Amino acid sequence: MRQLVAGNWKMNGLAASLSELNALKAGLGSAPCDVLVCPPATLIAQAAWAVKGAFALGGQDCSTQVSGAFTGDISAQMLKDAGASAVIVGHSERRQGHGESDALVAAKASAAWEAGLTAIICVGETESQRDAGKAEAICQGQIAGSVPKSACAANTAIAYEPVWAIGTGKTPTSAEIAAMHAHIRKCLVAALGEEGRGMRILYGGSVKPSNAAEILNLPEIGGALVGGASLKASDFLAIIAGVKPL
Ligand code: 13P
Repeated sequence: MRQLVAGNWKMNGLAASLSELNALKAGLGSAPCDVLVCPPATLIAQAAWAVKGAFALGGQDCSTQVSGAFTGDISAQMLKDAGASAVIVGHSERRQGHGESDALVAAKASAAWEAGLTAIICVGETESQRDAGKAEAICQGQIAGSVPKSACAANTAIAYEPVWAIGTGKTPTSAEIAAMHAHIRKCLVAALGEEGRGMRILYGGSVKPSNAAEILNLPEIGGALVGGASLKASDFLAIIAGVKPL
């Protein structure tokens, strides 16, 4: 399985940040993996013009609706029109900060497919849920509720992002990551059959140049979803260099 290294810029990036995308393009060469950057929606069109297909671009969220009176929302079709080929849905910062439910995340994934985008559906437990021994059950529930039954390997990736590892510099141990990815694989196969077997499962949460190779070489790792360390081309390139050779 070819890995996917995706960058989530979150609410960071102005026009001046396009220089990082140009640097990424210049440094990428023939990457050993698929590469995706999800800048803020305001930059997607300019980014598409700048990178000219050297790597893929994505959104960080989308509406469940195609168009209409939804002030401030952005549809999947608009992201696609601006140059995106993927969109992150159900990030914990949306689930927690904006009260997004599993059902809403599932509807967003379906809206993404309708527009021809790949959905990257995020799941992950909080620290207290992990401490209570509930991490696997939480992820299982989020998969059951937010991955529509028509998900397939070609239109969906799952991102396992333990909430307590996001932006904290803390990561689970390699054994914990491998165990959770094996668990998520089991849930996907149970829910989706063969399609669940081929679906990429990304790890996200404090991935950086110093830990990327170890994480990316664990079993059942389909790639990484990188926050802070994707903002600088040099760090993101160093993470990509950690990809497991096929
Ligand atoms: P950090 O890499 O900054 O921990 O963020 C991870 C993340 O939330 C990616 O979606």
